[in-house]
Amino acid sequence: MSKQILILAGDGIGPEIVAAAEKVLTRVNEKFNLGLTWEQGLLGGAAIDAHGEPYPSVTSEQAKKADAILLGAVGGPKWDTIERSIRPERGLLKIRSELNLFANLRPAILYPQLADASSLKPEIVSGLDILIVRELTGGIYFGQPRGIRELENGEKQGYNTDVYSESEIKRIAKVAFELAGLRGGKVCSVDKANVLEVTELWKQTVTALKEEQYSDIQLSHMYVDNAAMQLVRAPKQFDVIVTGNLFGDILSDEAAMLTGSIGMLPSASLDENGKGMYEPCHGSAPDIAGQNKANPLATILSVAMMLRYTFREEAAAKAIEDAVGNVLDQGLRTADIMSEGMKAVGTSEMGDAVVSALV
Ligand code: IPM
Ligand code: MG
Repeated sequence: MSKQILILAGDGIGPEIVAAAEKVLTRVNEKFNLGLTWEQGLLGGAAIDAHGEPYPSVTSEQAKKADAILLGAVGGPKWDTIERSIRPERGLLKIRSELNLFANLRPAILYPQLADASSLKPEIVSGLDILIVRELTGGIYFGQPRGIRELENGEKQGYNTDVYSESEIKRIAKVAFELAGLRGGKVCSVDKANVLEVTELWKQTVTALKEEQYSDIQLSHMYVDNAAMQLVRAPKQFDVIVTGNLFGDILSDEAAMLTGSIGMLPSASLDENGKGMYEPCHGSAPDIAGQNKANPLATILSVAMMLRYTFREEAAAKAIEDAVGNVLDQGLRTADIMSEGMKAVGTSEMGDAVVSALV
């Protein structure tokens, strides 16, 4: 396997957080002799500015060649008013879809050092370790028909289609069952089967797969409204949550906040062969862009996920995660996770601290 990474810094705080993560990548690459190489590319607003579209063909060529992609974040007010079909977010959806990155893993882990950053009581969240497995290339995000049309009476009507085939449901459920087998052994499949046929099929298909192949996994089902409530009522009841694209988008933001800061959470979006795009769960935070204020730890932890899932370099991945724990132990905090008695640092200092902690 070649070991080629494409780095897409993107917009807003993207370039700063990615620069910090790249320093970490450089250090582990040397230290563990990983033989990784990388190049930079453009996605989102940065690509619109340079090429007039958010996912230009040059980026697409680079992305197809790469084994893994590290993404900062895309979007910002500068591009919010341009035509919908070429907005930065469209670039993100296009790259996910073109590369078939159907399995989105979003862990929500509470670092013990940050227990007081959560808005929930410590006893509710301490030790929290949930993995959300979100289907990323189907459902209402991509379903046809979609659009805004004009009715005969002149009124406008917007419409989208939520659609999942059995094979799409099976492949994402398989990912959830396999990952659950490596951790708590429990999967909760989230649907709205009391109302939506598409999720009734979801529920049936997940249940059938469990019966055929995963007798050792404990499977439960939950309606999405109840899941949203249970996540704030008693989040530790969950191990792995598997759900469709839209519900996963919403529940993963909710789960992220249980941990105090979305600035700590990495994600992986994988295809069937382990190729993946790795990105922090947070957005491009244009309000603090260019000010050396953003937390680079989610991006740094995304590099750890990349080493684990695409390159199968567990020791190097673990070393990065340990180094992050170490800088938190030292009391270093960016503004989003700052609390009394801790030492405030900026984006680049945080990155450098992680590099130094990589002993
Ligand atoms: C996410 C984001 C994206 C999504 C947006 C930016 C298109 O919210 O990755 O969760 O909805 O998938
Ligand atoms: Mg989202």
